[in-house]
Amino acid sequence: MKSPKEAKPCKGQGATYTVCTSPQAARTRVRRAEARDVAGIVEIIRPLEDAGVLCKRSRDQLERELEHFLVARLDSIVAGCCALLPAGTGAELACVAVHPVYRGSANGIGGKLLAAAEDAAREVGFDHLFVLTAQTRDWFVKNGFTVVTSGMLPESYRTHTCLERNAEVLVKAV
Ligand SMILES: CC(C)(COP(=O)(O)OP(=O)(O)OC[C@H]1O[C@@H](n2cnc3c(N)ncnc32)[C@H](O)[C@@H]1OP(=O)(O)O)[C@@H](O)C(=O)NCCC(=O)NCCS
Repeated sequence: MKSPKEAKPCKGQGATYTVCTSPQAARTRVRRAEARDVAGIVEIIRPLEDAGVLCKRSRDQLERELEHFLVARLDSIVAGCCALLPAGTGAELACVAVHPVYRGSANGIGGKLLAAAEDAAREVGFDHLFVLTAQTRDWFVKNGFTVVTSGMLPESYRTHTCLERNAEVLVKAV
């Protein structure tokens, strides 16, 4: 492992910088998802869906939405993913997940995915991201999101199945 002196700062945690110290951190790249990433995404999100952390999506739905997914690749492994689903002038940030083995600020993969999603949203011209989360509110707040009422959601989201499991809505301008 690199000593803290050798470690390079990498973007994460919203506006602040985290020093990512692990060798994995340096080898992680975020890019748009491709068909060959589907199995890796499924491996990460299925247990989280079963645990009620993420909303369920079928493999068909995932394949249809694949163009909206970003993946964090660590060499040939999918270490994390998220999706940017267009909704009005913004986008829902969905399916934010990091493989349990690679979670934690030494790798900073969640922060990298978030930073890449924000960059991608700005490129497209979205002005905000929103998330629906029942269990991960504090991580999003730490990363610059604010809790809002479900009335702030686009019309099509007001009956979203996630809201039935008491998910909160958080928003971040990008
Ligand atoms: C939330 C998640 C994406 C963060 O990924 P990560 O790669 O570990 O994130 P980062 O490295 O950017 O941040 C790690 C820091 O966030 C903290 N953190 C992780 N989950 C947290 C949570 N639910 N609430 C508050 N803080 C959390 C870690 O303790 C760590 O803190 P530290 O810097 O003090 O050590 C990851 O924990 C995960 O996949 N969780 C399960 C899926 C999930 O909840 N997704 C969101 C659904 S809406």
